Amino acid sequence: MKKLSLAIVLLLTPMFAHAWPWSMDMANQISIKPQESVDAAKPGMNSFPKRSVPVAGTATSSIEVKDKDVAFKLANPVPADSKSVDTGRRLFEIYCVPCHGKSGTGDGLVGEKLMMKPFNLTSSNDMHSWTSKDYPDGYIFGMMTFGGVVMPVYAIDMSPTERWHVVNYIRKVLQAPAAVATAQTK
Ligand code: HEC
Repeated sequence: MKKLSLAIVLLLTPMFAHAWPWSMDMANQISIKPQESVDAAKPGMNSFPKRSVPVAGTATSSIEVKDKDVAFKLANPVPADSKSVDTGRRLFEIYCVPCHGKSGTGDGLVGEKLMMKPFNLTSSNDMHSWTSKDYPDGYIFGMMTFGGVVMPVYAIDMSPTERWHVVNYIRKVLQAPAAVATAQTK
């Protein structure tokens, strides 16, 4: 029995590691990969054309704010008016709902499949209070900018201003006292 289970484990390991010889067949083709040279004599990435300039808007997180500690202390520069909250809602529905759910409580369809459940972003969070000074706007901004243990980074998908719009939506709608009830009936 022991030998049999060992044999099964040995057989299955390459499968889970995607290490069967045919696992990479689709990736290893003769097609030219991104940033790959077409000139066999000069392999590696092509140099940028002369006078190339970086494109604004794709700044990585570390350019605008160094780390989560710095983000934590940032004051929210975007007033939470209805326009900002509306933009925040649209972005939240695109980027956050799959995990945190429309209600914001963490009941998204993708979130259900994760080892670590997405945290509750609404006022019904029983781990901590969102009104506490340990959870300022900069904390939510920092989570979006740098991600968490499981949560992905959103600094590439959204500009800093867009991330503050999302913070405003979370604060004004999801964390408004009666928000959970209204969000769930939608
Ligand atoms: C792929 C799933 C996923 C997506 C998408 C996602 N999150 Fe998360 N989020 C998580 C998980 C899991 C945690 C738990 C903490 C961790 O990962 O470190 C979390 C935690 C958080 C926290 C910390 C909450 C607390 O109580 O400390 C905030 C804030 C947050 N997410 C905001 C967002 C926002 C805003 C978006 C959309 C821009 C978003 N998340 C998108 C999975 C996700």
